[in-house]
Amino acid sequence: MVVCVTGAGGYIGSVAVKRLLLEGHEVIAMDDLSRGHHDAIDQRATFVKASTLDQKSLMEMFKTYNVDAVMHFAAYSLVGESVDAPLTYYHNNVEGTRTLLEAMHSANIKKMVFSSSAAVYGDASNQPIAEDAPLNPTSPYGETKRVVEGMLAHASKAHAFAYVSLRYFNVAGASKDLSVGERHDPETHLIPNVIKSIVEKTPLHVFGTDYNTPDGSAIRDYIDVEDLIDAHIKALNYLLEGNGSEVFNLGTAKGASVLEVVKACEGVSGETVLVKKSPRRQGDPTILVAAYDKAKAQLNWTPTTSLETMIERAYQFYLKKVAMV
Ligand SMILES: NC(=O)c1ccc[n+]([C@@H]2O[C@H](COP(=O)([O-])OP(=O)(O)OC[C@H]3O[C@@H](n4cnc5c(N)ncnc54)[C@H](O)[C@@H]3O)[C@@H](O)[C@H]2O)c1
Repeated sequence: MVVCVTGAGGYIGSVAVKRLLLEGHEVIAMDDLSRGHHDAIDQRATFVKASTLDQKSLMEMFKTYNVDAVMHFAAYSLVGESVDAPLTYYHNNVEGTRTLLEAMHSANIKKMVFSSSAAVYGDASNQPIAEDAPLNPTSPYGETKRVVEGMLAHASKAHAFAYVSLRYFNVAGASKDLSVGERHDPETHLIPNVIKSIVEKTPLHVFGTDYNTPDGSAIRDYIDVEDLIDAHIKALNYLLEGNGSEVFNLGTAKGASVLEVVKACEGVSGETVLVKKSPRRQGDPTILVAAYDKAKAQLNWTPTTSLETMIERAYQFYLKKVAMV
């Protein structure tokens, strides 16, 4: 198979490229490098510098490389930034995906795995969250994912293609070989920020310590990036077997509080984190935990990596790739 990975220079896309190569696929790694890193893309993949907003380049790429399927990771994904610049987010995430779908349609490409997000649920009242929970995004970012899911549902019927939309919870860790991992700038995710505080000996802001949880900090579901990519491979195979379009949550059904994550990072590094209690951030739900029964039943997928292993890999990656720069 020839698989095009959009957002291949980003955190999750770069891990996907490696795994697809390992599975024996030919990989067309596409990224506009607006946020990602060229050096994160495995050199055995064919790199195409292009934007999902550039239909002409997309059509040329699909034709040149005879692409069979697309894994679509390319998006902007900072919640706070999306509140300040919603139109940028609608343009890049929604119009970018619309343009990509149009180019796929012209090139007769019929399979897509899409990166959606738990952000589509907003502050869900029932935990763990199943796929049929109401979609009430609380940020423009989450709304762009909800809109794209609607667009995929409509376009797949009209143009006879099939997609799997994967709603990730909090992705963490690095590739098993530690060659690729999280390198966002600015970094908004908890684990790399705790590690940064440890390495740089700076205080860590914990936003909200008065939530209705056992230790007062917010609870999230951390899913290992390699486990996440396992699910992508299974989703791709699911489509290749001729199954129809589906939506799946990807999480572990287990929550960890911010303070529990801090403690686990201290355990892995042997260092102490200086915690600064800060006010809650607007729009941060108390708890977000995934029910993944549907992915288990239909994709035969189960996450296997512990939070400690995710942190250990993230820590090693940070020391190797981020702290050295
Ligand atoms: N990291 C998480 O915890 C998480 C959780 C839920 C969903 N997601 C989704 O997963 C996907 C990947 O996330 P990530 O953490 O790897 O993000 P990332 O920012 O590390 O990677 C995104 C990549 O897409 C590229 N890109 C952005 N817009 C583009 C465009 N128009 N054309 C071409 N390339 C473009 C960027 O340069 C970057 O390399 C995103 O769609 C994100 O919304 C991530």
